[in-house]
Amino acid sequence: MSLFNKSVSMFIDKVPPSTVAVFAKRYIAGPNLEDAVRVTKQLNAQGAMTTIDVLGEFVSNKEETEHFRDLAIKVLEAIDSHQLDANLSLKLTQMGLKLSKALCLDNIEKIFKRAKELGIFVRIDMEDSTCTDDTLEIYRNYRDEFNIGTVLQAYMRRTINDIEKLSDGRLNFRLCKGIYIEPRKIAYQEKDIVRDNYTYCLETLFKKKAYVGIATHDEYLVFHAERLIREYGLKRNEYEYQMLLGVDEELREIILSRGHRLRVYVPFGRDWLPYSIRRLKENPNLIKSALEGYLR
Ligand code: FDA
Repeated sequence: MSLFNKSVSMFIDKVPPSTVAVFAKRYIAGPNLEDAVRVTKQLNAQGAMTTIDVLGEFVSNKEETEHFRDLAIKVLEAIDSHQLDANLSLKLTQMGLKLSKALCLDNIEKIFKRAKELGIFVRIDMEDSTCTDDTLEIYRNYRDEFNIGTVLQAYMRRTINDIEKLSDGRLNFRLCKGIYIEPRKIAYQEKDIVRDNYTYCLETLFKKKAYVGIATHDEYLVFHAERLIREYGLKRNEYEYQMLLGVDEELREIILSRGHRLRVYVPFGRDWLPYSIRRLKENPNLIKSALEGYLR
C-alpha cells in the first residue's frame, strides 16, 4: 500500500458516518429489502445475476440474530415472489457464531430449510481468520443436505490445504482474495503472491470439478480465469464470475459481453458503515479524486 493510500485509509477511520455515506452510496442498494429487489431487477435486465446480502455484522444478543435470520428469510421469499435471478449471501457472525454456536446453527438451519423449500442457493460468506474453521466445518456438515456453498480466500496460507481436505464431497466455492487484515503468519501480504495463489487455487478447484464463483475485479485474474476456463473446457453453467455492486462496471460489461455468466453482490440494510469502510479502504482513489475536485 502506498503512503498516500495508507494515509487515506487512516483518514477514513476518522471521518464521520455522514461523510462516509456520501462515498458509500454506490456500494449499497439502499436501506430496505425493496432496494435490493429494485437493484436486482435492473441487473437481471442487464443480463447479470445477483446475490443479496443483509448488512449487519456486530450482533450482541439472541434477539438481534433472530431479527437478521428473519430478514434473510424475507430475502428468500422476495427472490421467489419477484422471480429474481438471485441467491442469498450470509454471514455466520450475524447469525450468532460469536455468541453461541448452537444459536448460530439453529438460525442457519431455519434459513437453509426455507431456501430448500424455495429452491434457492445460499452462500456462506467468509469472515476473518477466527471464523475460518467454523465456517468450513459448517459447510462440510450441511453441504449434502442443502444447496449451499462457501468462500475461500486466496490470501490465506491454509486455503490450498482446505481445498484438499474438503475434496471428499461436493465443492461449491466463491474464490476471492480476502478483505480482512490478517497477520503474515496467516495470510500472504504480497499482492503478487496472493494473485499467484488465486490462480493456483482456481486451477486446483477446476481439476476437482468444483463449481467456482470467480470473485474479483482484478483484470489480471479475470484473464487467467478465462484461460483456465478454456483449458479445462468448462461449459457456461459450470462456473460464474462475481463482482461487487458499484465496482468497475466497465469490466462487468466486458465479462458479460464475452459470454460468461456474472453475479453481482448486492448488499442492503441500515448497518452499512463497516461494509462501506472496507470498500472505501480498498479504493482510496475515490476519496482522492473527490478531494481533488473539492480543492480545485
Ligand atoms: P484488487 O483489490 O486488486 O482490485 C482490482 C481493481 O478493482 C482495483 O485496481 C480497482 O480498480 C477495483 N476495485 C477494487 N475494489 C474496489 C472498490 N471498493 N471500489 C472501486 N474499485 C475497486 N472477501 C472476503 O474476505 N470474504 C468474502 O466473503 C468476500 N466476498 C466477496 C464477494 C464478491 C462477489 C467479491 C467480488 C468480493 C468479495 N470479497 C470477500 C472481497 C475480496 O476478498 C476482495 O477484497 C475484493 O474483491 C478486492 O479484490 P480484487 O480481487 O477485486 O482485487
